[in-house]
Amino acid sequence: MSGLELENVIAGYRGRPVLHDVSLAIPARGSLTVVGPNGSGKSTLMKTVVGLLRPDKGRVLLEGEDITRLDPPERARRGLGYVPQEANVFRSMTVLENLKVAFEFTPPRSGAGLAARIDGVLELFPEIRPKLKTAAGHLSGGQRQMLAMAAALMPEPTVLALDEPSAGLSPKNAELLFAAIARIAAAGVTLLMIEQNTRLGLSVAARGLVLVAGQVKAEAPAEALLSDTLMQSLYLGGR
Ligand SMILES: Nc1ncnc2c1ncn2[C@@H]1O[C@H](COP(=O)(O)OP(=O)(O)O)[C@@H](O)[C@H]1O
Ligand SMILES: [Mg+2]
Repeated sequence: MSGLELENVIAGYRGRPVLHDVSLAIPARGSLTVVGPNGSGKSTLMKTVVGLLRPDKGRVLLEGEDITRLDPPERARRGLGYVPQEANVFRSMTVLENLKVAFEFTPPRSGAGLAARIDGVLELFPEIRPKLKTAAGHLSGGQRQMLAMAAALMPEPTVLALDEPSAGLSPKNAELLFAAIARIAAAGVTLLMIEQNTRLGLSVAARGLVLVAGQVKAEAPAEALLSDTLMQSLYLGGR
């Protein structure tokens, strides 16, 4: 069974499609990075997955269950975690308070307690352990993204959707963040990521999908896309 699946999705704005018959499937515990030029529909795809946009046609499936008609909080309760690109933490609250709020908003279905979940996420993000009493607004950009991911993991989601995690980060912080993302994937969370930094995004995922003008141009092992010079020069800004 797939962890996450899009089935022939057509979606857009005011009746004008942006995604044209997009299908994808991420196996449970698998990972997929969506790359593609600006304006190709990556954010639209993410909005469709998390429920901020209702597709005109097609279905979204979470662990085999049709979630197409569910709103974002209900998708979260079913195990879909989401880290938006921006405004993804409460800046005036401490790191610890952010983690608590995330836990209270969507308690884990496993019944795991707050302390156990905090331990769990701090194992994945040891970088924020010394910062528990720090206001999120005082963290570095990279630490703040780690906190956003840690908060999204508090409810123990089975699938985590990440929108442009490297946006606005220095190359060094982006590397650190992606090391953390690799740990999330290794922990068995199904991962869907959208990333402008093609090399970094594909480096931590099992598979990559190239979205161009709202259509799937390629879906292949991430390594194969990384070494495909024609694909790189045609669609991914070359290197
Ligand atoms: N809220 C919106 N209303 C109307 N058109 C939009 C909206 N958001 C995005 N679009 C259009 O949809 C297309 C794809 O945008 P987007 O999904 O943001 O692409 P990407 O994230 O790959 O850069 C673009 O042509 C963009 O102008
Ligand atoms: Mg975008």
